[in-house]
Amino acid sequence: VPGDAPGELVVDWYASAARDLPWRQPGVDAWAVLVSEVMLQQTPVARVEPVWRQWLARWPRPSALAAEPTGEVIRAWGKLGYPRRALRLQAAAAAIAADHGDVVPDDVAVLESLPGIGSYTARAVACFGYGQRQPVVDTNVRRVVARLVHGRAEAAPARTSDLADVAALAPADHDRAVRFSVAVMELGALVCVAGTPRCGVCPVREVCAWRLAGSPAHDGPPRRV
Ligand code: ADE
Repeated sequence: VPGDAPGELVVDWYASAARDLPWRQPGVDAWAVLVSEVMLQQTPVARVEPVWRQWLARWPRPSALAAEPTGEVIRAWGKLGYPRRALRLQAAAAAIAADHGDVVPDDVAVLESLPGIGSYTARAVACFGYGQRQPVVDTNVRRVVARLVHGRAEAAPARTSDLADVAALAPADHDRAVRFSVAVMELGALVCVAGTPRCGVCPVREVCAWRLAGSPAHDGPPRRV
């Protein structure tokens, strides 16, 4: 529907096209979301799924992970790679247990004050774990915004204005705005991929600034279409 705003189109697309991932199920708590987001930062979904389940079965609260010998934590991280993330997660869990009553904070600024928790993870927890309307900006989302809004082929380096760009795309309705944050991330992961995007199945192809400009190559001359 060409008259619809891009954010609305992305939310509608998500309803039919999204992957059925366990950390997106209703009732998944903020601790489980935090664990998933740290794991997903540098590891593909398929490898994260089984380890995420094992972690939450073994350490269902931050205090449980905090009390575990660090060697065990590293071992359980297993083949996810970048094991320093396991140490960061344990440090965050220790702070949550000691200073926040073993409850993951719901305030972005408080979340960002935890060890190892940056802007992305803080907003992901507030949005996916607590249902807050928050822009959640990862590489995939920056690439969608670069194309859809700015007409560029690939994501520019992270900028503060990314948050405002994403917030401006979000639907007015609260629940749809919450869903938009995960939907735009999914669009970047499945359709608006780096390199050659799948524009033929994209819900915003008719309003995408990059397509309207003839899909110019990255840092190159405009391509004829
Ligand atoms: N759903 C929520 N956050 C996600 C992420 N970082 N990767 C994949 N799916 C997600």
